[in-house]
Amino acid sequence: MPQYLKLVLYMRVEAIVKLGGSVITAKDKPMIVNNRALNRLASEISASELEKIVIVHGGGSFGHPLALKYKLNEKFTGSEEQIAGFTITHRAMLKLNERVLEALGRKGLKVAPLPPLAFATLASGSLKSMFYEPFINALNMNLTPVTFGDIVFDSDRGFSIVSGDLLMSELSRKLQPLKAIFTIDVDGLYVDDPKYNPDVELITEATVAEVEPLLSRLRFKSSDATGGIRFKLEQACRIACAGIDVYIVNGLKPGRLFKALKGEKVRGTLIKGVR
Ligand code: IPE
Repeated sequence: MPQYLKLVLYMRVEAIVKLGGSVITAKDKPMIVNNRALNRLASEISASELEKIVIVHGGGSFGHPLALKYKLNEKFTGSEEQIAGFTITHRAMLKLNERVLEALGRKGLKVAPLPPLAFATLASGSLKSMFYEPFINALNMNLTPVTFGDIVFDSDRGFSIVSGDLLMSELSRKLQPLKAIFTIDVDGLYVDDPKYNPDVELITEATVAEVEPLLSRLRFKSSDATGGIRFKLEQACRIACAGIDVYIVNGLKPGRLFKALKGEKVRGTLIKGVR
């Protein structure tokens, strides 16, 4: 158990899972949930029968288009429009979170929703402070904490987006889960974008030392509000550097999340925890 936490976790967290926004929402349709994927992922989490798990979900078509529209990652100008956008974006994320909670609840999970706006602050886009106690309390009460990428206060910019990927790495470093799993809309990590280069080979296993040089070579375009695949991989490396195995699997393909949760052989990328 991580004893350095002021509050002690009674049992080790078995997994932290990111439900990618590109998996649980319809990418090009604003504010539309991919119900099929979301319900299946909820079933896979439930069927894994893991007792201590933390869930983080992305924003997809609920978060990114609004964050970009209202320029929420740019310095706060004090404009009425930006202030309105702040509330609109947070409420959109609450709506998506409600849909995720419903899907998980239908599969029997007992959840504790934790919106970052109320527990985290940033400074120039980097984490400034985070209140972990509710996560530990929830886990100790056998509840599954469910948090998400959100708009939060930023001491330099007014507000900024905190991505689910950053929450994954911060929570992993604090809670020390046995594994971290990112679900995305492709099979894992490639040296090039498989959507444009179908011949590119999947990297099935890599060390942090092998992933890091790839980061600067990635030529994937990032059209979202939180740094895309490069930022995700940076966070994945931070998690692996804390000694935690990181799995990147395709959440649109049935069974992949389940297998990763159960520690079964699965198509995807494993970044080995540095021990
Ligand atoms: C984005 O969260 C949240 C907002 C834009 C408000 P993420 O960055 O974790 O979302 P996805 O997984 O990339 O969609």
